[in-house]
Amino acid sequence: MAAALRCVAVVVAVAAAGMGVEALGVNWGTMATRRLPPKVMGHLLKDNGFKKVKIFDADENTMMGLAGTGIETMIAVPNDMLAAVGDYGRAQEWVKKNVTKYDFDGGVNIKFVAIGNEPFLTAYNGTYNNVTVPALKNIQRALNEAGHGSAIKATVPVNADVYDSPASNPVPSAGKFRDDIVGIITDMVKFLNHSGAPFSVNIYPFLSLYGNDDFPIDYAFFDGAPPKPVIDNGINYTNVFDANFDTLVSALKNIGFGDLPVVIGEVGWPTDGDKHATVPYAQRFYAGLLKRLAARQGTPLRPHARIEVYLFGLMDEDAKSVDPGNFERHWGIFTFDGRPKFPLDLRGNGRPAMPAPARGVHYLPRRWCVLNPNATNTTALADNVRYACSRADCTVLGYGCSCGALDATGNASYAFNVYYQAQGQVPSACDFQGLAMVTDKDVSQPPCNFSVQVAESNATAVTMTADAKSSAPASVPARVAAAVLALVFVLVSA
Ligand SMILES: *[C@@H]1O[C@H](CO)[C@@H](O)[C@H](O)[C@H]1NC(C)=O
Ligand SMILES: *[C@@H]1O[C@H](CO)[C@@H](O)[C@H](O)[C@H]1NC(C)=O
Ligand SMILES: *[C@@H]1O[C@H](CO)[C@@H](O)[C@H](O)[C@H]1NC(C)=O
Ligand SMILES: *[C@@H]1O[C@H](CO)[C@@H](O)[C@H](O)[C@H]1NC(C)=O
Ligand SMILES: *[C@@H]1O[C@H](CO)[C@@H](O)[C@H](O)[C@H]1NC(C)=O
Ligand SMILES: *[C@@H]1O[C@H](CO)[C@@H](O)[C@H](O)[C@H]1NC(C)=O
Ligand SMILES: *[C@@H]1O[C@H](CO)[C@@H](O)[C@H](O)[C@H]1NC(C)=O
Ligand SMILES: *[C@@H]1O[C@H](CO)[C@@H](O)[C@H](O)[C@H]1NC(C)=O
Ligand SMILES: *[C@@H]1O[C@H](CO)[C@@H](O)[C@H](O)[C@H]1NC(C)=O
Ligand SMILES: *[C@@H]1O[C@H](CO)[C@@H](O)[C@H](O)[C@H]1NC(C)=O
Repeated sequence: MAAALRCVAVVVAVAAAGMGVEALGVNWGTMATRRLPPKVMGHLLKDNGFKKVKIFDADENTMMGLAGTGIETMIAVPNDMLAAVGDYGRAQEWVKKNVTKYDFDGGVNIKFVAIGNEPFLTAYNGTYNNVTVPALKNIQRALNEAGHGSAIKATVPVNADVYDSPASNPVPSAGKFRDDIVGIITDMVKFLNHSGAPFSVNIYPFLSLYGNDDFPIDYAFFDGAPPKPVIDNGINYTNVFDANFDTLVSALKNIGFGDLPVVIGEVGWPTDGDKHATVPYAQRFYAGLLKRLAARQGTPLRPHARIEVYLFGLMDEDAKSVDPGNFERHWGIFTFDGRPKFPLDLRGNGRPAMPAPARGVHYLPRRWCVLNPNATNTTALADNVRYACSRADCTVLGYGCSCGALDATGNASYAFNVYYQAQGQVPSACDFQGLAMVTDKDVSQPPCNFSVQVAESNATAVTMTADAKSSAPASVPARVAAAVLALVFVLVSA
């Protein structure tokens, strides 16, 4: 009897510990040359207990993968459509075709509509400043009029670069919205509060570190013993996530909405493409993040808050723009083919475990395209490697990356193979003016994998062109470091 009671107590304790992450979400981007079938992805999400997912459009294939799963979904109006839905008739049509259409038994459980993706990003030079809030208002009105309004809210996922602290007082409590958009943000926040929608922000401690060698690395994580905490009104900030989040809370308070709920639309750590983008760092970051979410620790200005979080991201995406950096194609907690990269406590029960891999993945035949050892024309070689890398993903060849230790021959083979695989192993993709040959011998040199791609799914995959940038949709989640907050720590710890 006593034993049975103890058992019950343990179960209750585990359930309570897990409560903080019961709402864990993840971003599912699809900028890949080849993709797993949407149904495989739907199962991957379910198998790993994700309750929420955020996608960057309302693509029909993606939606079919989510249909019937019950997973709460945030769909999106891409940036390049914001101006168009400024027309109310167009907004109604968008809602009808992308929301109402999936409102049936076994359909998609839509909870949010994202209005653009980081539309106020400094790098966009104000392109979307005037069209975002009108789009927000029109889409919510169309949702309301179609009868979805109480269940589905429109919100605007912004980058953390919409707020900062003055250089003269670089602490979270001095947080304010950027001068050039404070009017627009105030209008937006008023509307969000009125419609019952949360503020949505993307926070990236990794970017504080990226390209900023002076940033004290322990501040990027949650477990470190940073050399000096940032002291703000008696609060010790020991990590950039808390400092960043509380800067936003202060900025909201400044415009009269200090209690507006905030969701983290994106947070995560990449595993390749930069010296700080590694599996050990990613594992350390997620371990700290998930632990505090499970404990409902909140932040100093919002202690014990249940913070709703969407991890970034689900899978590696080999066709994303590398404008933000080579790490941009390696944000997945899963590889391109749905294999988990490291243990994670996704269920918040205090026991990190390897996530469940994708089931039913079909691969192309086990063969690779490599440099023919007899090849001698090195002039042609450089040109052909450049060609392959402009149309496929060579970001792991850089210094400090998983394939950074290859010699010139290995480099060429890597480039030829990654192109050949992206092209679905068509024979003509392994020629390179006679320099290449197909082999059935796996020439991977750990930790560098020469991968075999997944068999084509029914989805229309992204085609990379010579200029990967121009093939990327305008909505590509370009991110820039919230440099100001990075500076906070550099200044204080200097
Ligand atoms: C549905 O949404 C997608 C992605 O936002 C968009 O490309 C498409 O045009 C929308 N359909 C309509 C009818 O508005
Ligand atoms: C923003 O302005 C910069 C500098 O003028 C320019 O290089 C960049 O292409 C512009 N970006 C956009 C999206 O207009
Ligand atoms: C946005 O509106 C302001 C004020 O009406 C105007 O000055 C500015 O040029 C507009 N910006 C764009 C990108 O259209
Ligand atoms: C926010 O919305 C709530 C509920 O509609 C309302 O009571 C409150 O006054 C609003 N806050 C502000 C600052 O307008
Ligand atoms: C905050 O940090 C300062 C300086 O490191 C230290 O003296 C103080 O005890 C810390 N306070 C708390 C509450 O941890
Ligand atoms: C390389 O050249 C040698 C000698 O001509 C030839 O026997 C061999 O088949 C060639 N290897 C490949 C892979 O083409
Ligand atoms: C080497 O390749 C270059 C570029 O394709 C070509 O112009 C040149 O004629 C080749 N040289 C030899 C010796 O084949
Ligand atoms: C391999 O390729 C990478 C990326 O193009 C380059 O930075 C590196 O120098 C190359 N290494 C060798 C040995 O050629
Ligand atoms: C390389 O492949 C092996 C075997 O499939 C796998 O265990 C490993 O995680 C892969 N490494 C990377 C960097 O993808
Ligand atoms: C494509 O879709 C059809 C019908 O849904 C299905 O039978 C087929 O297996 C799919 N092919 C792939 C490669 O997913």
